[in-house]
Amino acid sequence: MISANKFWNKMAESYSKKPVPNEALYQQKLKTTQQYFDKDMSVLEFGCGTGSTALVHASYVKHYLAVDVSDKMIEIAENKLADTEIDNLEFKVTAIEDFNPSQSNFDAVLALSILHLLDDPKTIIQHVFNVLKPGCVFISSSPSITGFMRVLQPIWPLGVWLGVIPNVKFFSHDKWAGYMKEAGFIIEKHWIPDESKMTSFIIARKPS
Ligand SMILES: C[S@@+](CC[C@H](N)C(=O)[O-])C[C@H]1O[C@@H](n2cnc3c(N)ncnc32)[C@H](O)[C@@H]1O
Repeated sequence: MISANKFWNKMAESYSKKPVPNEALYQQKLKTTQQYFDKDMSVLEFGCGTGSTALVHASYVKHYLAVDVSDKMIEIAENKLADTEIDNLEFKVTAIEDFNPSQSNFDAVLALSILHLLDDPKTIIQHVFNVLKPGCVFISSSPSITGFMRVLQPIWPLGVWLGVIPNVKFFSHDKWAGYMKEAGFIIEKHWIPDESKMTSFIIARKPS
């Protein structure tokens, strides 16, 4: 099995050219997220890919740090950033597992299409809880690979072994919300869009 870095480096170029599957839904997620932003906030996004979402959100907050395990993804993100006037957005290559800020200092953390790819999402959700300031939010969008998609579960490891698909967690909507609650979060919104029944969009708040 190849490492996450190698797999996503291989995918980076084509990923950057792929349109979002549902533009209207993507815009709705951006808008919903921005309702939780203000100009004094320091935001962390992990698994940021080629930075498209970070580039849209950065102007709504004070500082935006976007990290990804793939140096190729970050290279593309940096190139996009260089074509803008944005000066409060920073990209960094790091696996979220290795990301260790010295103190809990983020006002919001975003994880979009990434939690299901992690070896141990439960531990990372706890890590996010620890790096958020009290009263602040964790905004995530994760596929819940359930129902008929589960038929793929037995053959999925073959694709992973061949290096053509990433390793994923086959979790239900409730499992994601459950992990958030176990970490100490209060679920403020759990949105499963009608047009994308596999998506769990969750706003989870760390109590004050
Ligand atoms: C499906 S893409 C999602 C990218 C972006 N968030 C989006 O919504 O388009 C998953 C991203 O997570 C990154 N990634 C995978 N494992 C990671 C890890 N352990 N730590 C940080 N980033 C990771 C990959 O390099 C890839 O860019």
